[in-house]
Amino acid sequence: MSVEQRNVQIRPVREEDRDAVMELASQLTEGVADWRDPGAVVEAARQWLAGFFGPAPEQRGAVFVAAAGGEVVGVVSVNTHRHFTGPVEAYVGELVVAPRAVRAGLGRRLLSAAEDWARRQGVRHLTLETAAGNTTARRFYAAVGYREEAVRFTRVLD
Ligand SMILES: CC(C)(COP(=O)(O)OP(=O)(O)OC[C@H]1O[C@@H](n2cnc3c(N)ncnc32)[C@H](O)[C@@H]1OP(=O)(O)O)[C@@H](O)C(=O)NCCC(=O)NCCS
Repeated sequence: MSVEQRNVQIRPVREEDRDAVMELASQLTEGVADWRDPGAVVEAARQWLAGFFGPAPEQRGAVFVAAAGGEVVGVVSVNTHRHFTGPVEAYVGELVVAPRAVRAGLGRRLLSAAEDWARRQGVRHLTLETAAGNTTARRFYAAVGYREEAVRFTRVLD
């Protein structure tokens, strides 16, 4: 099924979206370095996202989903944290669009919802990280106005 942008609503997550959101997290292995465990990456994202559900969510940020009818085809999570230079800023933890729904503008719309949330918090910057090997995400973020700020190096010790 292809997803047409006009039929998709971006809205705050609901309890009944939990399974679909957890399923979307399985897409977060794109470009993960070969010295990392991709399963652990997905599990960490799921645990993080799980904190937004339930009667007393542990996470204080926000999650928005892209809903095509009753079907959830995208998710973004956003929170605040303190940058090491001092200011509090917004941080996107996860952004995923289902493979069947990519290139329909949903990533852009989900990120825009996260940006609106961040503006409402009164912060000046929205930051995020992605794997260096995730060329799709790097092209996407550049296309929607994000600038590369830092590069992390890892040496695998023998
Ligand atoms: C990255 C991701 C969220 C993009 O979502 P999307 O809904 O396909 O993005 P959009 O349709 O809003 O794309 C906006 C623009 O980004 C750029 N872009 C998106 N995907 C691209 C690709 N595969 N190659 C090159 N440019 C791309 C394009 O300029 C695009 O505009 P256009 O389609 O008019 O040319 C999606 O590919 C995804 O979920 N990937 C797997 C999970 C992931 O890696 N998440 C990010 C890591 S945190």
